[in-house]
Amino acid sequence: MSASLLSIADLGAEGIEQILRVSDSFAEVGRRSIPKVPALRGRTVVSLFAEESTRTRLSFETAAKRLSADVLTFSAGSSSVKKGESLRDTVETIAAMGVDAFVVRHPSAGAPAQLAGWVDASVVNAGDGWHEHPTQALLDCYTIRQVLAERDGLAVEDTGVGCFAGLRVAVVGDVAHSRVARSGVLALAALGARVTLVAPGSLLPPSLEGWPIAGVSHDLDAVLPDLDVCYLLRIQTERGAGSHLPSLREYTAAYGLTARRAARLPGHALVMHPGPINRGVEIAAEVADLPRSLVLRQVANGVAVRMAVLYLLLAGDSQGDMLKETVSG
Ligand code: NCD
Repeated sequence: MSASLLSIADLGAEGIEQILRVSDSFAEVGRRSIPKVPALRGRTVVSLFAEESTRTRLSFETAAKRLSADVLTFSAGSSSVKKGESLRDTVETIAAMGVDAFVVRHPSAGAPAQLAGWVDASVVNAGDGWHEHPTQALLDCYTIRQVLAERDGLAVEDTGVGCFAGLRVAVVGDVAHSRVARSGVLALAALGARVTLVAPGSLLPPSLEGWPIAGVSHDLDAVLPDLDVCYLLRIQTERGAGSHLPSLREYTAAYGLTARRAARLPGHALVMHPGPINRGVEIAAEVADLPRSLVLRQVANGVAVRMAVLYLLLAGDSQGDMLKETVSG
């Protein structure tokens, strides 16, 4: 793994598998009565969120705290950014305090990569504009592998990424504005899944070059009976998706996972969504609460997966053995 995590494309199947395996150990830590290990004691992690977030920010901060790192929280709205300070000056100021990692969310695609060029610290992309959201893709892959392992009566750590081979996944909705879709498709395809994008033409990216997909469909009803995973995306109205649609009601009529549509899925098929969910738009309230809906399990797994990412970036080789001790001991 490189010193920063900016894109799923940097990892490849091997890198993804390594993170999933280390996540297994941290998921075990999360089940302990005191879910904390000293692996990153003395390290400082800054969470720098220049855009709204509930789960991603809290998940990263929880992950860093469970690794015993010191966590600094930066909020653009209450900082000197309001006084006109540039992102670069802000970041260099924070870095001067002695920081080991920046966890960055920013409305502009490429901002975390730029930041990585300004500081010596590791940078984790926690979502940049329409570009990527790699840890979301990793926690989604972790969740799928966990459920498939449970179904086979296996421990998750005994299940390799072979379980993704040929897995039929539909990514449904506002693909054009979704960093989750981009990272998710890259990760799932790297592991061997067959991903179909399902969306109206106006919500697809202008070019699908570089998207390793099996196909595109405009007919959700036709796709549903052949799926293993139905992955729904939120309509990103804050990024202008509303202007690409006649109305949200029409979107729901054609692409919403209503109870009637969910009944077309095979019995074993899983329903996923990165959150925040808009009940009644891309997913019906009763479908979001079905046992096959993994929305909250995705959130729960996010902490272990982000612990793994921070650990792999920051702990260094000399601490690999320490992890074994602390995790198994
Ligand atoms: C996503 C995001 O912010 O990209 N949420 C998340 O991080 N879980 C998806 C979204 O906002 O729809």
